[in-house]
Amino acid sequence: MLYVVGIGSGNKKHFTFEAEEILNKVDLIVCYKGYKKYVERFNKEIYTTGMTKEIDRVMFALEKAKTLDVALVSSGDATVYGLASLAYEINYKKNFNVEIRVIPGLTSALIASSLLGSPLNHDFVVISFSDLLTPLDLILKRFKLALEGDYIINIYNPLSKRRKEPFIKAFEIIRDMDIDRIVGIVKNAGREKEEVKITTTKEILNNLNYYLDYIDMNTLLIIGNSKTKILDNKIVAPRGYLDKYRI
Ligand SMILES: C[S@@+](CC[C@H](N)C(=O)[O-])C[C@H]1O[C@@H](n2cnc3c(N)ncnc32)[C@H](O)[C@@H]1O
Repeated sequence: MLYVVGIGSGNKKHFTFEAEEILNKVDLIVCYKGYKKYVERFNKEIYTTGMTKEIDRVMFALEKAKTLDVALVSSGDATVYGLASLAYEINYKKNFNVEIRVIPGLTSALIASSLLGSPLNHDFVVISFSDLLTPLDLILKRFKLALEGDYIINIYNPLSKRRKEPFIKAFEIIRDMDIDRIVGIVKNAGREKEEVKITTTKEILNNLNYYLDYIDMNTLLIIGNSKTKILDNKIVAPRGYLDKYRI
């Protein structure tokens, strides 16, 4: 059996009861080497691989899951830019016939949202700026459509040391649309060195080099919609109650 387990930020408080239960009972845990520290407390055999070795990791987990109970661990939720789909795809393509179960986890947008206030309390979209597997044109097209639709936008994989172009081009779209939106930036949500910043798209455009340096692959951005406001230093996306009802 293969359990594809989301572990939230990796912080114990963000593991679900079900994730705890599964990780306590499996024979083997497979994960990215950076997440080993989050699952060592289960005292299981752990197999790790590095960044960009996702296919090897999933193949290994599926091979082992033919005879053992295996947990393939993802940060956040395994179905949000995680390894759950790849596990289903390889299992199907290679005829492994392994039974797969996904165990939900707290995705980083939700942890970030709670730290920022209530920025996701209306229609939102989730976009990854990584152009490793998705063409940049498509990422930018979706981003522009989300802005035109006045959605709240969660940005995963915003930029890395070597991959800054999608972020720069996306912010050029905002500049060309001549709009300004509130932005929440959360780094290392739920982890050591957690940082929360509230700013605006204009401020980011005016200090682009600073933000290109500050934001990294452990950062999640939430861009508000046109109704998003700041109340008591928190980002609030109104649901609309107080426009409709008197209090
Ligand atoms: C490949 S995606 C994995 C997302 C993960 N499956 C989830 O549900 O959160 C990696 C991106 O998620 C975001 N992320 C993951 N963990 C984070 C954290 N603790 N704090 C802030 N952002 C995080 C970052 O944008 C990072 O570049």
